[in-house]
Amino acid sequence: METKPFGLLSDKTPVQLFILKNDKLEIAVTDYGTSLVNLFVKDKHGNPVDIALGYEDVSGYENDNGCYLGCNVGRNANRIGNGRFFLGDREYFLDKNDGRNNLHSGLHPYSKRIWTVEKYDDDSVTFSLQSPHMDQGFPGEVTFHVTYRLFEDAAFQIQYEAVSDRDTILNMTNHSYFNLNGEGSGSALQHKLILYADSFTPADAESVPTGEIAAVINTPMDFRMGKTIGQDMEEAYEQLILAKGYDHNYVLNRQEEGCRTVAEVLGDKTGITMQIATDYPGMQVYSANYLDNVRGKNGHIYGRRDALCFEPQFFPDAINHENFTSPVCRAGETYKKEIIYRFSS
Ligand code: BGC
Repeated sequence: METKPFGLLSDKTPVQLFILKNDKLEIAVTDYGTSLVNLFVKDKHGNPVDIALGYEDVSGYENDNGCYLGCNVGRNANRIGNGRFFLGDREYFLDKNDGRNNLHSGLHPYSKRIWTVEKYDDDSVTFSLQSPHMDQGFPGEVTFHVTYRLFEDAAFQIQYEAVSDRDTILNMTNHSYFNLNGEGSGSALQHKLILYADSFTPADAESVPTGEIAAVINTPMDFRMGKTIGQDMEEAYEQLILAKGYDHNYVLNRQEEGCRTVAEVLGDKTGITMQIATDYPGMQVYSANYLDNVRGKNGHIYGRRDALCFEPQFFPDAINHENFTSPVCRAGETYKKEIIYRFSS
């Protein structure tokens, strides 16, 4: 593993970049938020292409304003309605940082903290974070580990592990913005997506799930047979109008326990295909509807629909819906989840 300086935070704290590479892939990750900064994959001609949007140095990550570029979101990904929930015999209150709702855990996200490098070798790096009881409003002191690991067959894994001393919500995800034609190459609407999901969780005008589980069949939400992101996006379909595009949690099909392939995405220009595998029950598919004039790395300006996010997770607001798989991790239990990205071209 190679290490490089990645700039200073506004209080002058130095931040590092950790680079893992083999002959198929190269990833760069920072200890600031454990964000994925670069992801080089070979295109159909064998040329490396960086397919992850990112910032030039750590100041971009420090000043990120609601985009969550490349970061690992914690403790809880996506929304909790009204910023409140009951657990055990108590009610808990969170920041209302998205209207009256809590989004991506509020105003003190894990993505804006320096994580400790716990261990590393040629193919992996593990970061840790100690999160005190009532951090962000959640109960339980939690020890977190996030590991990035390269595999030999053009794949890498992000693994989340945590233990809490009280019952709490644990639901971490990665919020990378992918453009398989290369970051900064413009619209991602011609990317083809195959999504192994027969249903999704419709949301209200504030993007909080209604609790319903709806079949995708005969709707623009259906990606089971594969189609471009743009194909049906402008249809007069209420869910797409409310969210200004795709920004929905899919209920991932499950034939087997554990990690399974849930989606395949193809970049039309580079021929790069990304398969996503996870053991989570759901995945947010977000077509970067709110990405607006963001100054990224290499002098690139990122605009609306210039990337796609695939965020494996427990369903948004699961804590407030009995029919959704519970995101609660009991005291002393080990929370362990993974996402694997596999590439071909
Ligand atoms: C959410 C979007 C939000 C985006 C950036 C996604 O996970 O579903 O509604 O705009 O993150 O904050």
